[in-house]
Amino acid sequence: MPTLYGVSLGPGNPKLLTLRAVEVLREAPKVFVPSSKGISRAEAIVSYFTKKRRIIRLDFPMVKDEAIVAKALQRNASRVCSILQRYGSCAYAALGDLSLYSTFWRLYPYVKEKIHDLDIEVIPGVPSFCACAASAKIPLALGDDIITIIPLSASRERIENLARYADTSILLKIKPSVIRSLKLVGKEYQQAVLAIHCSTDDEQVRVANIKELEELSKYFALIIVKRRKFL
Ligand SMILES: C[S@@+](CC[C@H](N)C(=O)[O-])C[C@H]1O[C@@H](n2cnc3c(N)ncnc32)[C@H](O)[C@@H]1O
Repeated sequence: MPTLYGVSLGPGNPKLLTLRAVEVLREAPKVFVPSSKGISRAEAIVSYFTKKRRIIRLDFPMVKDEAIVAKALQRNASRVCSILQRYGSCAYAALGDLSLYSTFWRLYPYVKEKIHDLDIEVIPGVPSFCACAASAKIPLALGDDIITIIPLSASRERIENLARYADTSILLKIKPSVIRSLKLVGKEYQQAVLAIHCSTDDEQVRVANIKELEELSKYFALIIVKRRKFL
């Protein structure tokens, strides 16, 4: 049965992969990585564990137009299928944990449509916000705390409704323009952690005033806001 391995690469530091992830990357005949412009962070991590010639980049355009995205997914699925047919297995590796906003789950239905008896194994990993909490030396939740994970691509209304009930909100896909206009970053929240490039050499993580937003226009940035201050 053809097998596609979904490998979670963790937040960026190659020391933060699971043993199973490393095993699969070392053994897979080919490893696909998402890239939108040239060498990606996923590719840089994968190249610690396998030869460059085994890595294949798949282009995922970062656009909202679903027709363009669907076309790219169709094209990428055909490339994955041809490798699966030739070698019987291959891996697809992406950052953080694959269950969170990953291209892996966008691609999978297109591959499954072409190969009905496809088997998959999904290897979990360290999500970016867990790495951020570890670097900031704070817990994300204690006791009966409620956490929300919010991509700032969501509508402002949904973001505010959800954040109202949460003790901790994790904001991904940062857009400074959206944050500035959100009520949740007001006085209700006592602590904010700003994190850029968590777990890598370029990491910047600090407990900060939520108003300090200028530097957060980077793609690999997230914010954790907590209703109650920890320490
Ligand atoms: C498409 S989501 C993927 C999330 C990923 N699957 C995970 O488990 O963390 C991409 C967003 O995750 C956040 N992110 C990913 N890696 C990060 C890192 N090393 N440091 C800070 N934020 C990161 C950023 O908010 C980025 O816009």
